[in-house]
Amino acid sequence: MTKQASTFQAVLNKRLSRRNFLFSGSALAAASALPGCSKPASPPTGAAKPASLSFTELPQGLDNQLAVAPGYDYEVLIRWGDPLFSDAAEFNPQQQSAKQQAKQFGFNNDFIGFLPLPLGSQNSDHGLLAVNHEYTNPSMMFPGSPSAVGLDREHTDVDIVAHGLSVVEIKQRSNQWQVVKDSRYTRRITPYTPMKFSGAAAASKRLHTAISTDGVHTLGTYGNCAGGVTPWGTVLSGEENTDYMFAGDYSNSEAAESHQRFGMKAEARKSWAQHYARWDMSQQANEPLHMGWIVEIDPYEPDSVPQKHTALGRFKHEGCNVFINSDQRVVAYSGDDQRFEYLYKFVSKQRYQPDNRQANKQLLSEGTLYCAKFSDDGSLSWLPLVQGSGPLTAQNGFKQQSDVSIDTRKAADLLGATPMDRPEDVEVNPVNGRVYVMLTNNDERLDNQTDGVNPRANNTAGQIVELIPPGGDHSADTFSWEMLLLAGRRDEESTNYHPQTSDNGWLACPDNCAFDSQGNLWIATDGAENFGIADGIWCCEVEGENRALTKRFLRTPVGAELCGPYFTPDDKHLFCSIQHPGNSSSFENPSTRWPDFDKKLPPRPSVVVVSKTDGDVIGS
Ligand code: FEO
Ligand code: CA
Ligand code: CA
Ligand code: CA
Repeated sequence: MTKQASTFQAVLNKRLSRRNFLFSGSALAAASALPGCSKPASPPTGAAKPASLSFTELPQGLDNQLAVAPGYDYEVLIRWGDPLFSDAAEFNPQQQSAKQQAKQFGFNNDFIGFLPLPLGSQNSDHGLLAVNHEYTNPSMMFPGSPSAVGLDREHTDVDIVAHGLSVVEIKQRSNQWQVVKDSRYTRRITPYTPMKFSGAAAASKRLHTAISTDGVHTLGTYGNCAGGVTPWGTVLSGEENTDYMFAGDYSNSEAAESHQRFGMKAEARKSWAQHYARWDMSQQANEPLHMGWIVEIDPYEPDSVPQKHTALGRFKHEGCNVFINSDQRVVAYSGDDQRFEYLYKFVSKQRYQPDNRQANKQLLSEGTLYCAKFSDDGSLSWLPLVQGSGPLTAQNGFKQQSDVSIDTRKAADLLGATPMDRPEDVEVNPVNGRVYVMLTNNDERLDNQTDGVNPRANNTAGQIVELIPPGGDHSADTFSWEMLLLAGRRDEESTNYHPQTSDNGWLACPDNCAFDSQGNLWIATDGAENFGIADGIWCCEVEGENRALTKRFLRTPVGAELCGPYFTPDDKHLFCSIQHPGNSSSFENPSTRWPDFDKKLPPRPSVVVVSKTDGDVIGS
């Protein structure tokens, strides 16, 4: 064993012995009242728990089809280009126009939220789907596979409005799911949709731009990766890789330092700046500061103006998930998805009011944002990002709290947050109240940069970390943490699979996650193809003797990643985003034509719904 490997093993052993202690019962007993569960939570069960994940595992593999475990089936619910309104044209990729695309389902669906209809019900056969359209890939969208840079104006206009979100009403009739066309809830949100800033940075001079003379009103959202559904029935959408849309020299602008830290590049990576000054930083240097936020959207009120919550900070938000703490304050967790970036939580000032939806929609406007500092002894400190305290002074560029909101990464740098291996989905388990962090990978981490929570150099496979709030109090300044899973090939020494994990149960690059009502963890991956297997879904229990015993449930078609898994309240349907099928091939010669398999059509990013053929709950 090399020195590094033995250090690694020592840290791991320490974590594993803590785990044994924690699961001896005392910690489980503490996880009792969990008011934040938006799902009906099963009572915590302690050691004896029915084996809920008894389905037959799906073999590993990689081909041009979507595959689900035996006994399960899937329906394609909606595809890129499907008309959402009756006056929208049928999808024709040879004659796509911006006018049509703005009324059709967008590209590269990522996050999915299912919101039951009517509002307040737990219906599982009727509801709204809110779906993010994260980014586009012109070489898979347009005939001739044009590159993203240099795209002409007409194609650029299509490209722009293929971003944002879609809200659609769906219904299950005679065991078949359907999209309700022309529903009063149907909505496309694009980079042009009017929105407003909330929180400390709203009205800041730094947010004054050509499209916003008051720093309060703004237009649109894009780069929407993952997200979450709030207990009050709104959707949070994370603006992630928004730097890609911008180009132009910003080095002489007042925003130069902010842009540098955010990774803004002068060189074009998309065509938007070639056609519109809004995305040209040499002309409108403040515009990128309008991006990198969490956006709250109310799908039940189709005319409502989405809010960008500056109190949650500005970074490459993967997503955001909210939990109601025992004192009724809300706690929101969010990861900054880039190598060596940080994990954050926000604690609201005001309290959740079950019967006051309008007030709840302001909960994310005021509170305290914290960044995470992990220690190898298994503790985790949440460091408050508050102007005037510690190094967050005017001298360091933080004149007021709005500066902390806008330059969140820099503030967390100064506080000494732990640089992570790409924090993606961060979600609270509705049964045990612990927080699960998907860390996708970080192939740039060097040997001398490893630590307990990011223990591997050249980490290509990622890990899942479990955070434990003391006594279930999510507002606490100190948590403890456990390493749930070090992913990668099962025979790789640095992994820590359950001894009973099968040849099909190993996974790589955890990205999104979801919990069923029993608290089982469902893991979606982005990057398993680099390990020779299709991306997809694996699931495991998180307690008892089968803790972290992962099982393969679904495989995506070649080129696709799996995003946004989301359960209906009864756990009988699982919505999944199949993003970029056929990626890295071409419009004319795609590696798959899923889901249509029609020679005239390219592969299409689509939302599917998985159900058990006998109608029972998913995983049984
Ligand atoms: Fe868009 Fe973090 O994956
Ligand atoms: Ca993601
Ligand atoms: Ca999730
Ligand atoms: Ca991803």
